Amino acid sequence: MSMIQSYRKILFISLMLSIISTASASEQQEGQKLFKKKCSICHAVDKKKLGPAVNAMSNKEDILRQTIIKGRKSMPAYGEKLTDAEINTLVKYLLANQ
Ligand code: HEC
Repeated sequence: MSMIQSYRKILFISLMLSIISTASASEQQEGQKLFKKKCSICHAVDKKKLGPAVNAMSNKEDILRQTIIKGRKSMPAYGEKLTDAEINTLVKYLLANQ
């Protein structure tokens, strides 16, 4: 492979990587925004409020998702209040902040 070809290849790969990381960074921002708006009255990332701290929550995606959808004890159900996409974004946000 010529120098120019390998240079182009490296350029292409780094461009793709920066697109991927920007997408997941903005997803995290979206998750943080939703969390602040809908959940932070009862939850914080690293301290217990009425509900458990995010970093003390289950790391099982299914448990997180089901609790958000159905609610539990004093936690209200969000299955009808949030879209599937918003719930997915929140689940990813919780997992990323454990
Ligand atoms: C009115 C207060 C309240 C609000 C608002 C609230 N929660 Fe909760 N949440 C709780 C309580 C209390 C628990 C613990 C329930 C129990 O004792 O089993 C809980 C539990 C959870 C759990 C289960 C954790 C585990 O490890 O099993 C998840 C996940 C969760 N909440 C996510 C959220 C998200 C995401 C939002 C915002 C969309 C939210 N909660 C909004 C009070 C709340």
